[in-house]
Amino acid sequence: MSKIKVGIIGTGGISHFHMNGYNAVPDMCEVTAVCDIDKEKVTAYAEKYGVKRVYTDYNEMMANEALDAVSVTTWNSAHCGAAVAALNGGANVICEKPMAMNAAEAKLMEQAAIRNGKLLQIGFVRRFGTDAEAAKDFIDSGAAGDIYFANVSYLRRNGCPGGWFGDKFYSGGGPLIDLGVHVMDLARYLAGCPSPVAAYGVTFDNIGNAAQGGDKAWTAETTGGFARNVEDFATGFIRFDNGFVMHVAASFNLNIKHDTGDVEIFGSKAGIKLGNPSAYFKSDGTDGLIDDEKYSKASGFNDIFTYEIAHFIDCVANNTPCCAPARDGVVLMQMIDAIYESAATGREVIIGG
Ligand SMILES: NC(=O)c1ccc[n+]([C@@H]2O[C@H](COP(=O)([O-])OP(=O)(O)OC[C@H]3O[C@@H](n4cnc5c(N)ncnc54)[C@H](O)[C@@H]3O)[C@@H](O)[C@H]2O)c1
Repeated sequence: MSKIKVGIIGTGGISHFHMNGYNAVPDMCEVTAVCDIDKEKVTAYAEKYGVKRVYTDYNEMMANEALDAVSVTTWNSAHCGAAVAALNGGANVICEKPMAMNAAEAKLMEQAAIRNGKLLQIGFVRRFGTDAEAAKDFIDSGAAGDIYFANVSYLRRNGCPGGWFGDKFYSGGGPLIDLGVHVMDLARYLAGCPSPVAAYGVTFDNIGNAAQGGDKAWTAETTGGFARNVEDFATGFIRFDNGFVMHVAASFNLNIKHDTGDVEIFGSKAGIKLGNPSAYFKSDGTDGLIDDEKYSKASGFNDIFTYEIAHFIDCVANNTPCCAPARDGVVLMQMIDAIYESAATGREVIIGG
């Protein structure tokens, strides 16, 4: 079989991890074209990895190249346009998280995949960690009983990434859409992917906001010419159709000592806290680590991207069912939209009603 031809749209920070993933399966695929609106950046990137075909317009790239697969690793506001162009151009797509700016865009992307008969995988990379694998096996075995509550957080003390991440026009929102999305997806995935029915949320903006004299106010240096108009902190509560509930908290700025990221999920027989290794706490009073040998493989940041990309390529090459499909991205965007809408209105928001 000939190698899968891959294109990458957006050659910033995270695209290097996608490139490493493709380069880890060189018999299966080859990155043959790259694209970024920043000509200097994409040229340097192409030189670094020896890619010959270089573009500053993804429509042109899709028209000129016969690509089988495309990574969309742009800032969030370009995900929808780039993914739809790639799908319409006949490629299978892996799109970084968050899937899009909102659920409406996410649905357009999902429909483009269905219309073109192509795969659209969402970059829920945390699903590929051994902590998640161990917890999923434990839950799927029935050892945790019925899952009814998850408490998830991704809290950065002063972790504003700066640049476009703080500009709603490019990001769609702050820590909830950027960081919360990881842990919200993980909890829903571990709970068996139930459907959300309602959400209540609150956001705060009182530490990073210069206009409010915040202690960690963003400066022109950290925003790099972008606006700064996203929340510091978001929290939300989501109810699902099977009775499962989730509490989420995510921050760019919060007065805590250290950054933390926690996923705890609770069932009628046991609770689980994700970690390396993940731990369980049973209602009979026993506890322990889920540290079977099979969960001992490397699970660092680069490793989980390598597993994610290997899975994408396997799906494209062998029609393997995708474990992070577009539908899950759409549902996550519905959950995020609902929390932001609730924060704006002060009311519970019904999802999918
Ligand atoms: N999975 C993870 O853990 C993880 C971590 C970091 C970032 N991300 C996601 O990856 C994406 C990129 O983040 P990043 O940190 O690499 O950002 P970045 O700013 O380093 O790179 C984004 C690149 O996209 C390019 N771009 C923007 N619009 C474009 C367009 N229309 N066509 C082509 N290129 C375009 C920009 O010029 C920039 O080079 C974001 O969606 C982010 O949420 C995921």
